Amino acid sequence: MSTGGPVNLWTSSEHVEDYLRRADQISHRNEGEAALLEFIPAGTRRILDLGTGDGRLLALVRQRHPETEAVAVDFSPAMLEAARQRFAADARVRVLEHNMDFPLPPLGRFDAVISSFAIHHLVHERKRALYAEIFHLLKAGGGFCNLEHVASPTQRLHEEFLHRIGFSVETEDPSNKLLDMETQLGWLRDIGFVDVDCQWKWRELALLAGVRG
Ligand SMILES: C[S@@+](CC[C@H](N)C(=O)[O-])C[C@H]1O[C@@H](n2cnc3c(N)ncnc32)[C@H](O)[C@@H]1O
Repeated sequence: MSTGGPVNLWTSSEHVEDYLRRADQISHRNEGEAALLEFIPAGTRRILDLGTGDGRLLALVRQRHPETEAVAVDFSPAMLEAARQRFAADARVRVLEHNMDFPLPPLGRFDAVISSFAIHHLVHERKRALYAEIFHLLKAGGGFCNLEHVASPTQRLHEEFLHRIGFSVETEDPSNKLLDMETQLGWLRDIGFVDVDCQWKWRELALLAGVRG
């Protein structure tokens, strides 16, 4: 039954299974993930991964920074189960159920907050509020790295992107609430992040990064 709220299909196990089946084939994502790894501050000890899914990005970061402890947040039962399985033998990773439509619970402070392809499922107002919460969760010098699905400037470019990743306007995820990159970079600067930039981009996939100065 519809609650009348914004569409978000990620609590459906079929939606999750479909994504996880093709997650490795998403064009250029490995480049974006590699770029993100470069922006994790040296000496990072605590990491927060928002919309962790099955923990794929966090696992990459933990390989590079095995000494870190991490909190992985998601709200999808199937994703939480997959992440818990992935990190079952890793006592340094805590997998936490939370719906990011609502303010984050108290989690302590972090050296890095990361996210991949998750925040675009929140309505714009909530995206901005979450960015401000992230700022306050970061220690001084901590970094925010959001590998994100952003809006194209034109419908033609949007359709071309969808075609490149095997979708069309008819089949694209109705949970997506895409927003252009410039607006999001502006929000990060307004909130107080420094060194804000788009550090990598391929069509609608972009790495937005900033530091709490
Ligand atoms: C496209 S998947 C990406 C998963 C993972 N970060 C990756 O890169 O493979 C989007 C993720 O965002 C999560 N998500 C979407 N809306 C959410 C919300 N309101 N609260 C928490 N997680 C959410 C989904 O459950 C899903 O795990």
